Amino acid sequence: MKYFIVTYGCQMNVHESEKLAAICEKMGYDLAEKREEADLIIFNTCAIREGAEDRVFGNVGALKKLKKQRKDLIVAVCGCMTQKQQTAEYMLKTFPFVDIVIGTFNLPNFEHYVNAVKAGRRQLEILEAGDIDESIPYKRTSGENAWVNIMQGCNNFCTYCIVPYVRGREKSRQKENILQEIRDVVAEGKYKKITLLGQNVNSYGKDLSPAVSFAQLLEEICQIEGNFKVWFMTSHPKDLTDDVIEVIAREDKILKDIHLPAQSGNDRILHLMNRKYTREKYLGIINKIREKIPNCRITSDFIVGFPTETEEEFEDTMSLVDTVKYDSIFAFMYSPREGTVASKMDGQVPQEVKQRRVNALLALEKQIQQQEGKK
Ligand code: 5AD
Ligand code: SF4
Repeated sequence: MKYFIVTYGCQMNVHESEKLAAICEKMGYDLAEKREEADLIIFNTCAIREGAEDRVFGNVGALKKLKKQRKDLIVAVCGCMTQKQQTAEYMLKTFPFVDIVIGTFNLPNFEHYVNAVKAGRRQLEILEAGDIDESIPYKRTSGENAWVNIMQGCNNFCTYCIVPYVRGREKSRQKENILQEIRDVVAEGKYKKITLLGQNVNSYGKDLSPAVSFAQLLEEICQIEGNFKVWFMTSHPKDLTDDVIEVIAREDKILKDIHLPAQSGNDRILHLMNRKYTREKYLGIINKIREKIPNCRITSDFIVGFPTETEEEFEDTMSLVDTVKYDSIFAFMYSPREGTVASKMDGQVPQEVKQRRVNALLALEKQIQQQEGKK
């Protein structure tokens, strides 16, 4: 019996697929080299942009033929896309050969769904956010890098973003559980890099009692003995505090590499996005990082073509990128996500305008990289 997992989207999904892998192996499945050889195929999906969802629909649809040849093949779809009830129901209706459709909070019960399918029952279940599962270990699959989840969910409700709807509110793991996981990972000796994961790592610990700050967590991680480096993502500019910048500057174990998504360089658009900072405040943080941590890598995400974004406002994004001279950026065309505030805004920007803007931004980034010799 073999399993194969197809993962879409962010590092959090990659890491959660490591949990699914551990569950599959506990059930007695071995990893298949390709999906055609698997008895159990899992799609761990992403909902961040329409393109991500289209890819999932295409690839799940393509399994129809395989399922015809192999009646006992089990097909499961999970993750952010199917945390949305409507999409989950559509998936089950459109693809009769899909056996399991579950959301982001169902993974600990995965074995139960597989057993129910073996007993002849298709499964559709979407759970609400619960406590963070500490019961199932991960099968680490990312070479020398070990992902370590520190929190789930997001409270920010940036108006374009589906994440708070499919991942629930912020919930931090107990500090001691995180430290113990890292001690265990370091003791294994194979991992040189520990990457802490959360949608908004800088607000780690605010919900714990007693509260713990992200800076404090970082500091305690750095006290663990061993030869490893620590990295983390993602930081929200509104929460990146001076004490975090100081810990990064001070601790040799922390990689000098900060992913700090700006999303836009224009104040009106930032306000409409509900980002809670201005261009000036963002640049203030960048200057502080440059001053306290010379040679720090800085990377960012940008969205172009947010509803009502004018050419001049887009130029503000271009000029921010030109000012900061990032080591690398990701640039995305705004994609309306059903249920979010921005998807209902007037003034949606035509696709060809978004395409032109994203091309211009990426061309600028390439030019800066060539000039600055950045990697
Ligand atoms: N459209 C386009 N890009 C988006 N992102 C999040 N939501 C959307 C959306 N609706 C981008 C942001 C975020 C990154 C992970 O994805 O830039 O930082
Ligand atoms: Fe989405 Fe904003 Fe939360 Fe990031 S901080 S996950 S962009 S809502």
